[in-house]
Amino acid sequence: MEMSGPSESPQSFWFFALLPMALTLGWLAVTRRRLPPGPRGVPFIGSILSTEQLNHRGLAKLAERYGGLFLLHFAATRTVVVSSPEMARQVLQVHDGVFSNRPATAAIRYLTYDRSDMAFANYGPFWRQMRKLCVMKLFSRRRGESWASVRDETDAAVRAVAAAAAATPEASVNVSELVFNLAKGIIYCAAFGLSSSEGQDQFIAILQEFSKLFGAFNVADFVPWLAPLDLHGLRKRMEAARAALDGFIDEIIDKHRVNPKATDDLNTDMVDEMIVFLGETPAADGDELQASFKITRENIKAIIMDVMFGGTETVASAIEWVMAELMRSPEDMKRVQQELAEAVGLDRKVNEGDIKNLSFLKCCIKETLRLHPPIPLLLHETAEDCELAGYHIPARTTVKINVWAIARDRSAWEDADSFKPARFAAAEAPDFKGSCFEFIPFGSGRRSCPGMQLGLYALEMAVAQLLHCFNWELPDGMKPCDLDMSDVFGLTAPRAVRLVAVPSPRLTCSLI
Ligand code: HEM
Repeated sequence: MEMSGPSESPQSFWFFALLPMALTLGWLAVTRRRLPPGPRGVPFIGSILSTEQLNHRGLAKLAERYGGLFLLHFAATRTVVVSSPEMARQVLQVHDGVFSNRPATAAIRYLTYDRSDMAFANYGPFWRQMRKLCVMKLFSRRRGESWASVRDETDAAVRAVAAAAAATPEASVNVSELVFNLAKGIIYCAAFGLSSSEGQDQFIAILQEFSKLFGAFNVADFVPWLAPLDLHGLRKRMEAARAALDGFIDEIIDKHRVNPKATDDLNTDMVDEMIVFLGETPAADGDELQASFKITRENIKAIIMDVMFGGTETVASAIEWVMAELMRSPEDMKRVQQELAEAVGLDRKVNEGDIKNLSFLKCCIKETLRLHPPIPLLLHETAEDCELAGYHIPARTTVKINVWAIARDRSAWEDADSFKPARFAAAEAPDFKGSCFEFIPFGSGRRSCPGMQLGLYALEMAVAQLLHCFNWELPDGMKPCDLDMSDVFGLTAPRAVRLVAVPSPRLTCSLI
């Protein structure tokens, strides 16, 4: 039989003749799509920016030049930066289905058991189930244990300050350390049901190593084919960190399985709530979520890390910033303490029922969250190609929403850089529930903070108690205007300089 070669068929001839033209037209169509503006980069490398230019302040400066939506290239990766309330609304509300994935570095993927958690899982059915579990079971107001740990740990902090003040009057207290231990204690007890003295140091060491690994620069995140070379030697450290977490939490899970609590017990901790969803555990009668959804030990470990990372530094840095802003603004401090004296009285500590009567204190907390959002840059990723404000945003683009810059946008806020809590007393003042895009310290839409209620309760209770129980003076005759208000950028944006202040008891009752 005689075979005919490709060159002899007319169809093949046209196919090979037109292929280069089709490819060229396709390539032109893709490259001619209008990308957002941004600094011109070096070929193959992209934008060369210092780490200062990549934090919330540096990106806000770039936004002054390139606008509310701009693009940065780094090697094979793209990042769009959103810096205006209207662009945030487009991303978090109008196109939220496209913008609700999360970017993940190699360290994040490994340390979250390949995104077995909620915070780093991409948007989809798995994330929806995890979110339901968190909202309905773990962070629900009905689960009293977390709320009880806020009260217990706040009381313990007050006792510690009172004891220090009684032992050495006029000695200063490291407020940063105090509030960080307080927030850690709250989340640790809420998660494991253990008192903060049991095993906390070991767990905090694991968290610190996770935090370092999350923040470590890894060239393979920008040039993926370099990953197998492990150029920074991170693999061994990541394996050791995850093994340490496995050992720690497996032991806690096993102890909880030996002594299970009834699901209607008001004193369940987060591990109690999650182990009933473990594949090995039969579903309780009538619980639809339990019957339809099973999780693994890895899911439990990854969720616990979400809660520890999401709930500790955020709450601690917010408490510290409120204290610092009020110490810098003595008139506002006086007004808060006056409100506390009238609503609570000077013969007892604050309790939960008092919080609703502390409207000026709530204004101070909102104004602090505006000026110092604990998570200044929200990290999202596009799931597919999208048009935004007339620009083409390709799939798998990292999206950074600069909450810090948006909350200081001069077109949305008068005297945007000043601490003026009274602005939130107005009836039409924005709230932080997510529909006022000029003020989104808890995010907005699908990926917004599921721990907002618990976080706010901890924040309001801690600030109210510390300001009601004590007067606070700056040490060594320091004037309020001398307080350094700069921040550092990591997972959150805490104060760069630790806040130190001298407490003196204010109440007629005993605090110890
Ligand atoms: C003052 C306190 C807090 C602030 C300001 C805060 C803020 C935020 C923000 C801005 C986000 C990201 C939103 C986005 O990406 O669009 C977030 C997510 C999250 N927060 Fe909070 N948070 C606080 C407290 C808490 C607490 C106490 C917990 C847990 C007990 C928590 C757990 C989480 C989790 C798990 C996520 C990831 C949600 C997801 O990806 O679906 N947060 N938070």
